[in-house]
Amino acid sequence: MDYRDVLEQLKKGNPLSREAWETLIVERESVDTASLYAAADAVRRKSYGDAVYVRGLIEFTNYCGRNCYYCGIRAGNERLSRYRLTEEEILAACETGYGLGIRTFVLQGGEDAYFTDDRICALVGEIKRRYPEAAVTLSLGEKPRASYERYFAAGAERYLLRHETADPKHYGKLHPAAQTLSNRKRCLYDLKEIGYQVGAGFMVGSPGQTARTLAEDMIFLQKLEPHMVGIGPFIPHADTPFKDDPAGTLEDTLFFLALLRLALPHALLPATTALATIHPRGREMGLSAGANVVMPNLSPVSVRDKYRLYDGKVCTGEEAAECISCLARRVETIGYRIVSDRGDWKGDDI
Ligand code: 5AD
Ligand code: FES
Repeated sequence: MDYRDVLEQLKKGNPLSREAWETLIVERESVDTASLYAAADAVRRKSYGDAVYVRGLIEFTNYCGRNCYYCGIRAGNERLSRYRLTEEEILAACETGYGLGIRTFVLQGGEDAYFTDDRICALVGEIKRRYPEAAVTLSLGEKPRASYERYFAAGAERYLLRHETADPKHYGKLHPAAQTLSNRKRCLYDLKEIGYQVGAGFMVGSPGQTARTLAEDMIFLQKLEPHMVGIGPFIPHADTPFKDDPAGTLEDTLFFLALLRLALPHALLPATTALATIHPRGREMGLSAGANVVMPNLSPVSVRDKYRLYDGKVCTGEEAAECISCLARRVETIGYRIVSDRGDWKGDDI
């Protein structure tokens, strides 16, 4: 199989086999990236025009009961100073974001037992009462189906849960034995069935990742058909077992963003903070390679630095307003436009 034939199939919108994905991924150094990114950009413009959607991220707790080996807020990290935002602080962050034109709020946190289903539902209900036209996205990790159903009934309509890797052995290298790929997948399928717009995703360059595990990721995403896919480079964190592993690269991350845009033409793909962290223009390059979402931080500046999943994270010192105007400027320099709307998935309209 020639990787050029595989690329042609992908550009035509045909789903690829595992072998075809692997061939393409193995040959990624040979691919003409300028033409790949141009093809991805054309598909993105066909699906969403030049719009860049904004999600206001509220990192409301860095307590976490889990122990993912790559993550800086893992339970085992005793050096981290922990915080929880109060309901008032979370609502204040929404108010600031709303005033800046943001119409999607993402509540993201570690798996924190303090935030019971009752507390989450009350919070979601209050945000929807104040801002009925805004979308509420949750990113709270793995929960029983009944909890996902309750949050949905309370008004949450989107859920982000990266699958991290679709290869069970690789999953086992990234997580303790108590965390399983099968439960992760169960969560994603439950969320979809309940009616959420669902986001999956993985880190590029995570320890133990190979062309084969990446092909598995692409096959899984082709099958799941998530509405959103979050990818960014793995970046080592000094207080984790992977502190000495190398970071994922800019080139590989851009390559996978473009492949995802071609494989899932209507996906909402963020140019992530991790991508901005490994290169000063990483976010802009991500948008030019197929991404169409940015996620500025609305958390109070006093806690920003503590939500440190990886080292060197950018934009931890900026107030939300500065962050958004900085993003708007950056987006304009590359020929796109920040829009103030919910930015729902458009795949059903066509
Ligand atoms: N580098 C890059 N991304 C990370 N994440 C967690 N730790 C790291 C890291 N060290 C990502 C995971 C998780 C998301 C919230 O952040 O993919 O799902
Ligand atoms: Fe946040 Fe630039 S994008 S400060």
